[in-house]
Amino acid sequence: MKIMVTGGAGFIGSNFIHYILKKRPDWEVTNFDSLTYAGNLANLKDVENNPNYKFVKGDISDPDDVERLFSSEYDFLINFAAESHVDRSLYNPGLFLKTNILGTQLLLNYALEKGIKRFLHVSTDEVYGSLGPDGYFGESSPLAPNSPYAASKASADMICRSYYKTFDMPVIITRAGNNYGPYQFPEKLIPFFITRALKNEPLPLYGDGLNVRDWLYVEDHCDAIFTVLEKGNFGEIYNIGGGNEKTNLEITRLVLETLNKPESLIKYVKDRPGHDRRYALDINKINSELDWSPKMDFETGIQKTVGWYLENQKWWEDILSGEYTRFYELHYKERS
Ligand code: NAD
Ligand code: TYD
Repeated sequence: MKIMVTGGAGFIGSNFIHYILKKRPDWEVTNFDSLTYAGNLANLKDVENNPNYKFVKGDISDPDDVERLFSSEYDFLINFAAESHVDRSLYNPGLFLKTNILGTQLLLNYALEKGIKRFLHVSTDEVYGSLGPDGYFGESSPLAPNSPYAASKASADMICRSYYKTFDMPVIITRAGNNYGPYQFPEKLIPFFITRALKNEPLPLYGDGLNVRDWLYVEDHCDAIFTVLEKGNFGEIYNIGGGNEKTNLEITRLVLETLNKPESLIKYVKDRPGHDRRYALDINKINSELDWSPKMDFETGIQKTVGWYLENQKWWEDILSGEYTRFYELHYKERS
């Protein structure tokens, strides 16, 4: 089996490549990634010499790059490539639309022309918008995205749907909750707060710190994607949740406790504009139809994640410079 993984140098994509090379060692994996600030080939150092792994540099929104990519044949395509950080989407929405919408459409077009057997599009619970204190998002909940990031992902989902309906293309969409685990870029809540706490720097908690996310360990996400790839039905959407609803304050306290750092590092800052209050997923469909459920217990997942960042200090110190520093200064100066 030949598979194309787009965005494989990022957080979830690189975890998926590690996962799949172990799970299906005879599959040939091509990683297509433009290496934005979030793409890092150091994430794949241990597999770079694996004869079944190949890296191709290219942009999913560039027609020449995508045409070159499709000069080879693939059985399955899993589309992880995206601009993925909500806060960044406040400053450069156009880039999110270009990569996340136009990029996905270009991939669909070429994959259709080449007769791909399965196209799995990796999406997010953020397309559903924000929940109050009760209830869950199901796959047929209305789309109500609130950030340019979420709107671009919702649009890509709609384009995927149209290729299934109009061209009978074998497209499947997954919508996952907030992921955490090794190799996550330290701008997202958990690795950002771990790395800042390790440097004894304040942890900027937005608003009242009581927004809720449904946390999913990245390996569980990879396992769910593999399950959907093998057993999912075309034209369907599958929610993937970890069943771990936590407030940001709970997460922050757990990170501080795990690192034996004081709560005085918490700094409440101006809220994120359009900040969604709560995400929570109903995963009954993937559970009952495909027999998948998350395995990782949250406290253990956090211990493993904190352990990984402690052991891989050079990995994150190399990242926390250059372009990242510019974004950090722009964004957090506005919040303090
Ligand atoms: P990430 O930002 O860590 O990685 C994104 C990768 O895509 C990077 O390697 C980057 O270089 C690459 N990329 C960006 N633009 C590209 C382009 N134009 N062409 C080719 N490659 C490009 O993101 P992530 O957290 O690993 O998320 C992966 C996917 O999962 C995204 O589609 C995201 O929307 C989705 N998702 C993420 C989460 C989460 O909690 N992180 C939750 C649900 C869904
Ligand atoms: P984030 O990791 O950016 O994921 P998303 O916005 O996709 O859910 O943020 C997770 C939660 O943490 C979200 O409610 C915003 C909050 N947050 C902070 O309070 N401070 C921060 O510095 C960051 C990055 C996030």
